[in-house]
Amino acid sequence: MSADAYKRAAAEHGAALVEDGMRVGLGTGTTVAFLLPALAARRLDIVCVATSVETERAARELGLDVRAFDELDRLDIALDGADQVAPSGWIVKGGGGAHTREKIVAAAADRFVVLVSPEKLVDEVHAPVPLELVPFGLLATLRALGEARVRGIPRSPDGGVIADYLGEVGDPRGLADRLARTPGVVDHGLFPPELLSEVVVGEESGVRTIGF
Ligand code: A5P
Repeated sequence: MSADAYKRAAAEHGAALVEDGMRVGLGTGTTVAFLLPALAARRLDIVCVATSVETERAARELGLDVRAFDELDRLDIALDGADQVAPSGWIVKGGGGAHTREKIVAAAADRFVVLVSPEKLVDEVHAPVPLELVPFGLLATLRALGEARVRGIPRSPDGGVIADYLGEVGDPRGLADRLARTPGVVDHGLFPPELLSEVVVGEESGVRTIGF
């Protein structure tokens, strides 16, 4: 099976977890691109928030009710892809530069479900770790971070510069704390295990769910 087929299997399983009446967070990326039609096809009475302009547009075109995320203060479930998933429950997100909004949405959800193909499973999370940086003082922020590089993609919808930390990760919590403490860092793509409810991995035989 191709990576896309695994992503589709995981995404379709994710869509089936959503129930009538739920407030649903929609992630960003190619896995979520499989989730959206599967979710729309269920014709549930749900309201959604989107983590990117791309997801918002695609979800609306499919008929999903997408609200601004200043209308809701809590979500029942959030569904998203990831770039890396470690057995410790640390994940890395932000391959598409949407990690700041994705983390806000994940943290607001009672249940955060990550949908991946098997090649996203890693022994330990590693660089690159996506960053979103305030444009003001950008060079000083990059200098303070050390091994970090601007990615050269458009700014986030919130005006942030998308970059990547390229150094050693080591203890993810230690690095997450250091990145969060660095002035000019809006947020980073290290998501801690306590944010995660479960990971759905698309496999040959269907899907495997890993609980956290
Ligand atoms: C978006 O910024 C990312 O966090 C994605 O969720 C992540 O990169 C996974 O993307 P794919 O589903 O495209 O593999």
